[in-house]
Amino acid sequence: MTVIIKECTREDLRQLQQISVETFNDTFKDQNSPENMKAYLEKAFNTKQLEKELSNISSEFYFILFNEELAGYLKVNRNDAQCEKMGDESLEIERIYISSKYQRKGLGKNLFNKAMEIAIRQNKKKIWLGVWEKNVDAINFYKKMGFVQTGAHSFYMGDEEQIDFIMTKTFIEP
Ligand SMILES: CC(C)(COP(=O)(O)OP(=O)(O)OC[C@H]1O[C@@H](n2cnc3c(N)ncnc32)[C@H](O)[C@@H]1OP(=O)(O)O)[C@@H](O)C(=O)NCCC(=O)NCCS
Repeated sequence: MTVIIKECTREDLRQLQQISVETFNDTFKDQNSPENMKAYLEKAFNTKQLEKELSNISSEFYFILFNEELAGYLKVNRNDAQCEKMGDESLEIERIYISSKYQRKGLGKNLFNKAMEIAIRQNKKKIWLGVWEKNVDAINFYKKMGFVQTGAHSFYMGDEEQIDFIMTKTFIEP
């Protein structure tokens, strides 16, 4: 079994788009209307939007390969690329997605460890993320990784306002 994590470049756009749509769809389609799913997928993962995100110097995308197959991806943001104004001492995990058939094999933990490595290298003091309040599996995973809920913000899925919990892991005492 081999696990490889590699940073994405603009050449990876198509693969990134494909896995972003596939994993988002698999995660949320059962709890959201087809119209809201379609609206969100088109807005978040269109080619122009992903090109913009891939060229933002304050964001990084990583693929995780399991036995050479693309199995998931990670997106982290710092500074102004963060979805909330959390300041320069924070790193955001904006997306961490493992394809259904590769879940519960330790790959999510591998990507989380990658995010920790980046945060420590960049002298950050905490990692934070937003997770849909109804995404119980992900919330349990984050708790296992040492995150605690520190707030909430609203998020639009198509025309539906939803609540995201903000969860934080502080690893350097202030
Ligand atoms: C959430 C997700 C990233 C976790 O990745 P994963 O590869 O399935 O999880 P791992 O196998 O690395 O699990 C790591 C640890 O978390 C625990 N864990 C994972 N999912 C869990 C769950 N649903 N409930 C309880 N514990 C869980 C594992 O038991 C493991 O514990 P251990 O370290 O003691 O062995 C992955 O399941 C996923 O992509 N889900 C769909 C997309 C999603 O919801 N992303 C988050 C959006 S905010």
